[in-house]
Amino acid sequence: MKDVIAIDGPAGAGKSTIAKKLAVQLNYNYLDTGAMYRAVTLLALTNKVDFSDKKKIVSLAKKAQFQFAFSNDESKLLLFLNGQDVSKLIRSKKINQHVSDVACIKGVRDILVKKQQELAQNGKVVMDGRDIGTRVLPEAEYKFYLTATLEERAQRRFNENLNHDDNVSYQQIKENIKLRDEIDSQRKHSPLKKAEDAILIDTTHFSIEEVVEKIKTIIRSE
Ligand code: DC
Repeated sequence: MKDVIAIDGPAGAGKSTIAKKLAVQLNYNYLDTGAMYRAVTLLALTNKVDFSDKKKIVSLAKKAQFQFAFSNDESKLLLFLNGQDVSKLIRSKKINQHVSDVACIKGVRDILVKKQQELAQNGKVVMDGRDIGTRVLPEAEYKFYLTATLEERAQRRFNENLNHDDNVSYQQIKENIKLRDEIDSQRKHSPLKKAEDAILIDTTHFSIEEVVEKIKTIIRSE
């Protein structure tokens, strides 16, 4: 798949910030697949569905309409779920607590993977998530796997969170990320895993700009 960039890795590795900047600079679309799993989790919460009721969650995912758009200043990627801007709602503590469980449901994954493949079919797209290089777009022209130490990833999420309403400590964020890493990488269906042909970048000691430049250099040189 020409002009398709897949970026995977654990929470807080810098995927979404880097993918967004890359997309803006390359004039590509950007698709944050984690936001889609978060949106289905939001639907379950707002419809007061029990998280053990997989059938109901799958039916909510089936009916969901997703639309991505950049904010006017291109600094944010907005997600519209069934026409409503849910970009802020999907970043809450409650969603963080439940999203990995929703992402374990095979029926939900099948539906979202299909939607993600459709959204990428015209190319010129940067897509980030956990299974993009392994399952959603295994034929992507470029595949990257970003990682960083748990402490660095938790610190980044904590810094982002300072602008949000939830009162969450660094320690709580670190524990949530550790738990999500475990669930995401040990689940049965499409676990978080580096694709064999993905390029590994440890972002612990690099700035966002440095990683974006690194990726652009690799793309230009191939
Ligand atoms: O990238 P994020 O933190 O917004 O992702 C939220 C959760 O969604 C994450 O814990 C795992 C899940 N996810 C997934 O299973 N597959 C993807 N392609 C993207 C996210």
